[in-house]
Amino acid sequence: MQIRPIESTDSKAVGEVLDKAFKRETERLIGTALRAAEADTLELVAEIDGQIVGAIMFSPATGRTVLEEEVFGLALGPVAVLPEFERCGIGSALIDSGLDFIRQLGVPFCMLLGHPDFYRRFNFKPAANSGWTWDKDPSGKYGDAFQLRVFDQAAMPDSAVAASFHPAFDLDNA
Ligand SMILES: CC(C)(COP(=O)(O)OP(=O)(O)OC[C@H]1O[C@@H](n2cnc3c(N)ncnc32)[C@H](O)[C@@H]1OP(=O)(O)O)[C@@H](O)C(=O)NCCC(=O)NCCS
Repeated sequence: MQIRPIESTDSKAVGEVLDKAFKRETERLIGTALRAAEADTLELVAEIDGQIVGAIMFSPATGRTVLEEEVFGLALGPVAVLPEFERCGIGSALIDSGLDFIRQLGVPFCMLLGHPDFYRRFNFKPAANSGWTWDKDPSGKYGDAFQLRVFDQAAMPDSAVAASFHPAFDLDNA
């Protein structure tokens, strides 16, 4: 298996991975919208024998305090693996590669919405533990699904933060 940056000719195959993994079109549409907005900061694919079997995307995320102090990081997602290739370590390899890369770039944090049992192994923690709230969910209805990994504590605001994903993710609530 090879993990490599996406190429422009890969978009269709990545779309098929997203459709098959999520069994709906929303994540493919989010990916397309992020690319159209040039907000696909990092896209990696997993390839086996010339076939794209997995994909991950990172896009800009913003944390803002009540005093309008801002911190800029990245959001992880969507990430997907073709159903017939699940549980072979491909999803973990994509996530590890992406996180290593963005940490080396000096990105201060990465946030996501996902299952805490899965993302705990990548050192994500419930964002609420750090005083972070997802701006679309002020009452915290999504609970621990909103998660945060901090790479540079010194860059993080001391006070409570409302965090925003790129507007392309609003397609999920459309
Ligand atoms: C989630 C996904 C990317 C994981 O990819 P993968 O290649 O199967 O993952 P890996 O083989 O690296 O890791 C598998 C491990 O993750 C666990 N796992 C996978 N999905 C999980 C979930 N939703 N919740 C909790 N654990 C999960 C498996 O139980 C397995 O655990 P184990 O190692 O203790 O047996 C893949 O299952 C997928 O595409 N799912 C559908 C799309 C999706 O839900 N994407 C993530 C949105 S947050």
